[in-house]
Amino acid sequence: MFCFLQDEAYKGRKRVGSFSAASNVTGRKSDIQAIALLLHQHDAYACFDYAAAGPYVEIDMNPSGRPGAHIDAIFLSMHKVRQSKHTRYLERFAHF
Ligand SMILES: Cc1ncc(COP(=O)(O)O)c(C=O)c1O
Repeated sequence: MFCFLQDEAYKGRKRVGSFSAASNVTGRKSDIQAIALLLHQHDAYACFDYAAAGPYVEIDMNPSGRPGAHIDAIFLSMHKVRQSKHTRYLERFAHF
């Protein structure tokens, strides 16, 4: 990822980093804050796919005390987070 962020070919262009929050094969979680920090240090957006992990983990898009480690966008699979700990937040945006 680091070489892409430094690639002169993309200089001056807005970049988007999009990563899986966790593998749906191994269950291994990504280091979200470290990835987001690196992306933001290079003026790129940090996006994470929480379709697999979303129902089982805390989602903190704006971790306190970690400037630059925020998440710009997340992707959720609505039918998977239904009846999960996040339902009360999602009800504000969608009708189940
Ligand atoms: C990491 C990840 N992203 C996206 C999807 C697709 O989600 P959906 O079921 O809403 O099409 C899945 C489905 O399992 C997934 O595991």
